[in-house]
Amino acid sequence: MVDPEKLVKMALEARKKAYAKYSGFRVGAALLTKSGKIYTGVNVENSSYGLTVCAERVAVFKAVSEGEREFVAIAIASDSPDKTVPCGACRQVLYEFSDDLDVIIADRDGNFEVVKLKDLLPRGFRLGGGEY
Ligand code: THU
Repeated sequence: MVDPEKLVKMALEARKKAYAKYSGFRVGAALLTKSGKIYTGVNVENSSYGLTVCAERVAVFKAVSEGEREFVAIAIASDSPDKTVPCGACRQVLYEFSDDLDVIIADRDGNFEVVKLKDLLPRGFRLGGGEY
């Protein structure tokens, strides 16, 4: 497990680039790959609200589009004084690529907790249950 503080700092820094024009709720994520690279993501909102993509999914899609498919940890932070947990859709997207992901949920001051994806999403869906 990498230095969780570093991932939290990167998520908090990334959050500043969030495009949260409609909710005002800025979220940042920092995703660590097995190969040691870190991909950040922010939420990107849209005038057509339903098209919004969460910070976590942006980070995953950036990483996958660069050839990464194995993830070790993700830190998530927002402007909230409460720790930011990933939404249900993001849990399922993370599950696609991770058997044992550490999810680092942080508050705006950098306090954090590490939880397992499999505890946040027991029995996630996998097509055929096999290869990915
Ligand atoms: N959001 C995220 O980026 N990640 C989460 O895990 C929760 C929600 C974003 C989506 C939307 O832009 C804003 O937060 C309010 O829901």
